[in-house]
Amino acid sequence: MIHPPKRYLVTSALPYANGPLHIGHLTGAYLPADIYVRMLRMLDHDVAFICGSDEHGAAITMRAIKENSTPQAIIDKYHALFTETFEKAGISFDIYHRTSSPLHHETSQEFFRSLYAQGQFVEEESEQYYDQQAGKFLADRYIKGTCPKCGNPDAYGDQCERCGSSLSPLDLINPVSTITGTKPELRKTTHWYLPLDKYESWLRTWVESGILDGAEHHDPAEWKTHVIGQCKSWLDGGLQPRAMTRDLDWGVDVPQEIPGSAGKKLYVWMDAPIGYISATKQWAADHQKDWKAYWQDPESALIHFIGKDNIVFHCLIFPAILKAHGQYNLPVNVPANQFLNLEEQKLSTSRNWAIWVHEFLQDHPDHTDALRYVLTKNMPEAKDAEFTWKGYQSDVNADLVGNLANFVQRVLVLTHKFYEGKVPEFDIDTPIVGTRGDDEASWHEVEMMDLFDRMWSVQDAISKFDFRGGLKAMLDISSAGNQILQFNEPWKAHKTEPETVAAVLNLCIQYVAAMSYAMHPFMPAASARLRRLLALEPLTEQGSWVTTLDALAAGELLVPDGHTLHQPEHLFSRIEDEWIGMQVAKLHEMSAAATPQAVTPAQTETVASATAGKPPVSYDDFAKMDIRTAKVLAAERVPKADKLLKLTLDVSGVQRTVVSGIAMHYAPEELPGKHVVILANLEPRKIRGIESQGMILMAEDGDGRLHFVQAASDESGMTIS
Ligand code: MF3
Ligand code: ZN
Repeated sequence: MIHPPKRYLVTSALPYANGPLHIGHLTGAYLPADIYVRMLRMLDHDVAFICGSDEHGAAITMRAIKENSTPQAIIDKYHALFTETFEKAGISFDIYHRTSSPLHHETSQEFFRSLYAQGQFVEEESEQYYDQQAGKFLADRYIKGTCPKCGNPDAYGDQCERCGSSLSPLDLINPVSTITGTKPELRKTTHWYLPLDKYESWLRTWVESGILDGAEHHDPAEWKTHVIGQCKSWLDGGLQPRAMTRDLDWGVDVPQEIPGSAGKKLYVWMDAPIGYISATKQWAADHQKDWKAYWQDPESALIHFIGKDNIVFHCLIFPAILKAHGQYNLPVNVPANQFLNLEEQKLSTSRNWAIWVHEFLQDHPDHTDALRYVLTKNMPEAKDAEFTWKGYQSDVNADLVGNLANFVQRVLVLTHKFYEGKVPEFDIDTPIVGTRGDDEASWHEVEMMDLFDRMWSVQDAISKFDFRGGLKAMLDISSAGNQILQFNEPWKAHKTEPETVAAVLNLCIQYVAAMSYAMHPFMPAASARLRRLLALEPLTEQGSWVTTLDALAAGELLVPDGHTLHQPEHLFSRIEDEWIGMQVAKLHEMSAAATPQAVTPAQTETVASATAGKPPVSYDDFAKMDIRTAKVLAAERVPKADKLLKLTLDVSGVQRTVVSGIAMHYAPEELPGKHVVILANLEPRKIRGIESQGMILMAEDGDGRLHFVQAASDESGMTIS
């Protein structure tokens, strides 16, 4: 795809419907795609922006087990939550579909059928772990064991989360089924494999040179270095045949007529990317479009936005599936992002170290664009990046309030003060300070060309997936506008040089109007607010960038003389230290509540692995724990932490402080005098500034209520062994 494509098909990774979205997801695959697509529409391109929920695979069934629920209930819950979250975040998908839909089941089965009929699969028997007690084969994620590379005893059958190596269940030392806690046995099973090893050579040529079937397909110089780098390292490691089916209960059935299909499902990474196709079909049906043109016309450009953990699937495996099928386009770019850290730690769902997008936007609906701004400014485009609340505050206060909103505010205030809110007429022969004109062009033409160039920089950066650069170019427009004001000081010059002031303000109003376009891809809601302040029509997305640039090139004004602006209002508000302090406190509080020092029902993972059975431990490991009886002397709430209580305990005459996450279950008044059991030698840890010296053991019932564990005698300080 070397020439400008006729149409675009842009996808964002289908999120697993097994847990909410955090800011890392948003800035990884959704926000950049949205900015890109909004710009494409403004450039008057034909584009379909596709996404949906990924509702199959072990991730969903595991979540169902953890939550004591069913896969259907889980996907319904998260599909609804995602739809709402994306809407709140201003992500403008043309369709948000789901892989549990009948259309998707048909589409992915049809795909499988076609590959099967064309003889693309290799059928092979292998040995896989089978849980006798549960009566089923185990998905990789359901098997835990010791990592052969780093010795982590809790590695999963597909990956070790400590050292990051990707594993196969057969690599694990002492494998255990997480469903029953038993040792699984190896059983024979037959699956259909995609012979990736046979495609290695064309994949390498395609990734490294952008050549496909001997013709130029895309320019590899436009791909991110880290994306090509990751592909190369997979290719250098040698591609292996990959099973496209699994022995699972939840997923798309392997088409019935295929012999041996009973009980087999499509591998989730075979079915999910085809979800992009079924979603496009649904969108096309809803809007009288031809889905095939978007996927199969060589003049259409396919672009996948994803996080870096999905690179191999989108750059090697899915392209191989598409090519094996035939007729489908391969992606012209896969602008994957790296990871975002939060306050210098990895974002983590299990430790609840995250900012959940739906929660944040629910609590602070007026922060949508500020969040989009900060996440774009710190987008992990080429390397991992950091999000901190302090940074959020300074980005918003310096850039959005100090620069952008301040410029808009000054222009509106001055226009109201001097011209009753009307865009002043000006005389082209009155030059203003800080502008250049020459024999060829008047200062005004030069200024409008400048604005044109600045707008062009925004567009150019976005089209190269350089969203941080585009955001900066957008903010530069407002800096330039502020500078024109600063040079000419219209607030002083009004009496002495009214002609100049009229020219300056007119020009600045054109800058503000241009800003409403430049802001739109990044901050659509703030752009709409700005249009209201300017008393301009809401911006039409399709084609409006082109019209604006054409007007600037022709030296036409974006807002005509005499047009009346609305009264000034702040576009963004300052963020105070106190607000930031609350966000930081909330983060720590939620994560403390999810760690073992403060057991709460939120800690579903530990609870679930207990019911699912944990791997055996040695007596020596058990003997390391100092478990004792204790008596509660006093209990009080921890300020600003809903879940935490500070308890003073007596342990055989010695007092100890323990912070515990039981405030939702017990009022502090009911606790003094209670007998409890504690883990006394847990490493002391500061929670909300209080040193917690141990952990109270709790039993959780089926409704998630917590109960104290007690010894049959009331003596405090007895050891339990
Ligand atoms: N659900 C996967 C994840 O969250 C992404 C699937 S992308 C698709 O990592 F291509 F398979 F759809
Ligand atoms: Zn490891």
